[in-house]
Formats: sequence, structure tokens, C-alpha cells
Amino acid sequence: MSEAKDKVDSAAEAFKVDFASFSRLELDGLDGAEEKLRELNALKMRHTSKKSALADSKKLIGKIAPEERSEFGQLVQAVEKEILAKIEDVETKLNDFISHAKMERDRLDVTIPGRRPRTGHLHPITILRQKIEDIFVSMGYAIEDDREIETDYYNFDALNIPEGHPARESQDTFYTTEGFALRSQTSTVQIRAMERRGVPLRILAPGRVFRRDTPDMTHTPMFHQLEGLCVDKGITMAHLKGTVTEWLRRMYGEETRTRFRPSYFPFTEPSAEFDFSCFVCHGTGQMDEVGNSVVKEQLSAVSDQLPASRCRPCKGSGWIELGGSGMVHPNVLKACNVDPTVYSGFAFGFGLERMAALMFNIDDIRHMFENDVRFLEQFK
Ligand code: DAH
Repeated sequence: MSEAKDKVDSAAEAFKVDFASFSRLELDGLDGAEEKLRELNALKMRHTSKKSALADSKKLIGKIAPEERSEFGQLVQAVEKEILAKIEDVETKLNDFISHAKMERDRLDVTIPGRRPRTGHLHPITILRQKIEDIFVSMGYAIEDDREIETDYYNFDALNIPEGHPARESQDTFYTTEGFALRSQTSTVQIRAMERRGVPLRILAPGRVFRRDTPDMTHTPMFHQLEGLCVDKGITMAHLKGTVTEWLRRMYGEETRTRFRPSYFPFTEPSAEFDFSCFVCHGTGQMDEVGNSVVKEQLSAVSDQLPASRCRPCKGSGWIELGGSGMVHPNVLKACNVDPTVYSGFAFGFGLERMAALMFNIDDIRHMFENDVRFLEQFK
């Protein structure tokens, strides 16, 4: 009997040692608690399964002398009861903790405001380009996209700018070692489009152009131009003026006026630079003290009393210079196998950055290419 009792005592002792780490439960997370529960189940197996020391003790009951059997049996039962109670107590605590932690984890607060996705938006140059494209498409123009890397032939020769022509110098660009160049003007697309489509044609060619300029407030080595070309039988300067004027009226309002000044471009003859009446002061060049444009009729009366100030976008001139234009030079038509005695055309080109800077009140065009969202987000 005493030997059997020792067995029970040592089983109880072994449990006590093994269970020590569970007597002070410190839980700080779901993962930890689940790990503890797995450990507890293993411990339960070790101390209460059929192969445990306790089960061995139970088997001894039958072998104990009858007069001591009941006492021994009660001892074994008491030990078993205590072991099971202790395990169950921890088991309950762990399960409670786990189910509570899971509930916290999965809790859904439907009143929390949703996270707004950050949506992108168009770049100011794109906004402007699309606006102009829409106007020309409605006038029957096709949008023509073309390459940014060109040969000297398309950038200069075909545009009536032969080697040694001074116009090459003002449009110095970037060259590759293989004799290619980044186009310095979208006028290259005049040639490409006539070669590809033949005439008659009406195209608008937007795109990037490159020049070896040192960046400053009004220059960047890469910028955007829009080129227009219309070739057909009987096209005259009147069509050029009508088209440009109609476009600018649709952009800036019915009252917008245009002005063409004689100029020179190698690929047009005659050539003209075109201006339009300022969209801020409506051509008066003056602003009153609260920043409203001074209407022409009021101008003389007002200027005596109110300190009218110089309008900023047009620098007080009332006109905004926009681009170059003219009648396509016969040499350019010939270079594209178009007979200049049958066909004639007009062309125009201008830079988008300057226009965007004026319209959006941007004082330094370099901002447009620095990709700073604090700047760009203003044009949402
Ligand atoms: N390509 C010229 C430039 O970059 C602009 C230009 C002038 C385009 C006259 C034209 C034009 O189509 O007719 O300065």
C-alpha cells in the first residue's frame, strides 16, 4: 500500500511542477493565449490520459488489500479531482480570454468614416491640351501623334531650313550619337502627316519638344507645342485668321479678338505671329483697384480718378502673344510631293506652357515638371 501511495504522491508532485507555469497566467494577446491553450492540452494528456502516472495508479486499486482499498481509492480520486479541477479552471480562463480577444479583433465599427481613396487627376498641360483638341476636333481636325526623336531632315531640311540656316541655331536641340535629334518643334509633324495621309488634310499635332535652353522661369529644355496644319485647294490667309480666331473665341469668349503681325518663319510665306486680346482685362491693359478689368468706355473717365493698374498677363498691352503662323511654304509642300500650284495651306504653332502659365496664374513654368503634388493638386 505505501508503495502505491508513493506512486500517487509522485504523480501529484509531477503535475504540480508541470502545472506551475499555469498557476500565474499572464496573457497579453490572442496568439499567446492560443499557444498557452495548446500547451495546456498537452499537459492534460500527459497527466490524465490512459498512459499517465495517474491512470497507472488507478490500475493499482484492484491489487490493494481489501481493507485498504477504499482509502486508497479515495486518495486516487481526490488527486484526480484536483488535477482535473485545476486544468479546467485554466482552460475556462483561456477560452474566455480567447473568445473575448477574437471578438475585439473582429469588431466592426460601421460608424467610422471610410478612407477616401487618393484619386489622381489631369496635369494642367493635359487639361489645356484636351480643351484645345476638343475645339479643333469639332472643326474637323484629326489629332496627329508622332515621334519625339527625329532626323535632321524632318526637323529642319524638309521644313525649308537647310544646313547653315540661322534658324537652326535658335532651335539647337539634343543629339544622339547615331545622328538623330530630339525634335525642337512640332512642325516636323506637318511633313510626317502629309507623307502619311496625303492632301487635303486638317491635323492638330500636340507633343513634347526639346531645346538646349537653360531652365528659368519661362524656359525648360522640354516643353509642349501644338501644331495646326490645313492643306486643301484654295486655302488662303483668311482661312488661317478665321480658324485661329474661332478657336480663341471658343476658349476665351465671344468678344475675344485676334491680331496677326508680319513675321518670318522658314516654312511659311507669308508668315505672321498671332496675338489675342487679353482674357483678363479684355484688351484694355488696365485693371481697377479691386482687380476688375476696366471696360474700354470707362477707361478715360476712370483713369483720372481711380489708380488703374497695369494688367498682369498682357503686361498692360491688352494683347497676349501666342504663336507663329503663315501660309505653308511651297518648298515644304514640294518636300511632301504636294503640288504647290494646286494646293495651298496654312499652319500655326504655339507653346502650351506659356498659355497654361497665363491661364492658371503660374509664375514659374518649372513648377509644371517638378511633380510636386502640392502644386499639381491645385488643378484638380
Ligand atoms: N515651329 C515654330 C516654333 O517652334 C512655331 C511655328 C511658327 C509653327 C509658324 C508653325 C508656323 O506651324 O506656321 O517656333
